[in-house]
Amino acid sequence: MALLDVHDVEVTYRTKEGPLKAAEYVSFQLKKGDSLGLIGESGCGKSTMAKAILRLLPDNGQISGGEILFQEQDLAKLSPKEMRKLRWKELSLVTQSAMNSLNPVYTVGAQIVEAIRTHEAVSKRRAWERAENLFRLVNIEPSHLTNHPHELSGGMKQRAIIAMALCLNPSLVIADEPTTALDVIVQDRILQQIVRIQKEISSSLIYISHDISVIAETCDYVVVMYGGHVMETAPVREFFRHPSHPYSLGMQNAFPNLEDVDSELISIPGYPPDLLNLPPGCRFSPRCPFADSVCQEERPELHFIGTQHGTRCHFPDRAEAFRAQAKLPETWTERPAQGQRGVGA
Ligand SMILES: Nc1ncnc2c1ncn2[C@@H]1O[C@H](COP(=O)(O)OP(=O)(O)OP(=O)(O)O)[C@@H](O)[C@H]1O
Ligand SMILES: [Mg+2]
Repeated sequence: MALLDVHDVEVTYRTKEGPLKAAEYVSFQLKKGDSLGLIGESGCGKSTMAKAILRLLPDNGQISGGEILFQEQDLAKLSPKEMRKLRWKELSLVTQSAMNSLNPVYTVGAQIVEAIRTHEAVSKRRAWERAENLFRLVNIEPSHLTNHPHELSGGMKQRAIIAMALCLNPSLVIADEPTTALDVIVQDRILQQIVRIQKEISSSLIYISHDISVIAETCDYVVVMYGGHVMETAPVREFFRHPSHPYSLGMQNAFPNLEDVDSELISIPGYPPDLLNLPPGCRFSPRCPFADSVCQEERPELHFIGTQHGTRCHFPDRAEAFRAQAKLPETWTERPAQGQRGVGA
């Protein structure tokens, strides 16, 4: 039984131009203790899905379809009060903007103790001890608990926030690009820590990033989103060995490959679709080098080509041929007939 079973979720934002569906038919599962990387270009709906799961969508956004089964209850149907009980305790979020969420007036230790004691009946002393352990876990000397947020460096502050997000041993942690504001070395260290701790406290993790190489190192499963749809989902090894959706192939070309350092970086020409004006068929079809007329007309289903490997492509059985062709730069040259401009991925 999955800890989280996201099933055909649809999220709609009300906008001046009309309803904007930022996610549609989004389905994926996550087992207890596993980690899942949610990847895709900017605007493809990653944060929208994180906010939908945590029920933290802004006022103009709503879950307009589907189910989000967490421990077998549908989060989409819980009352705000029931949801508040689950947040922090069972589901917690680490984001980049969380960097500013620490209260400048109180010491970091006092804030962690407060968070623990709001949800659990434990003494101050016991809560402080837990805060000390958490700081050790994220590699901060526990004496820093008596510091105010401004006294910590950026990297330390982010680790303190991770400690806080973990202070109630949540079953699911969602990290939405938690490290992009930090320099690369600090980013890498924090990421390693998130994964180590996640394994240690055996929580499940959804790690959101636009950088596919980050996911390769950290996650058990990959979910690729594009234009509000899940395009491919697979166990991480399978995804890197046998990527099948043309968009995944394009993304893999656009990031440095550690196993083949000489491979040329190739970007996908064109832009992601305008969600208010979507192409009728496959959302990737305007940029896909393999698109056929059916791709422009019919929305592909997520076809399962392995027990856990799905691809939303009309031609799942041509994946091997696509993989070979996708390695050639000329496959991705602009198609002038579509009037697109090439951009870096
Ligand atoms: N409050 C909102 N009102 C209207 N549209 C929104 C709102 N929030 C997000 N959107 C739109 O929904 C789409 C998905 O946005 P989302 O933030 O989920 O993308 P993302 O994949 O997290 O992107 P990024 O990598 O840039 O963080 C985008 O087209 C965005 O413009
Ligand atoms: Mg985002």
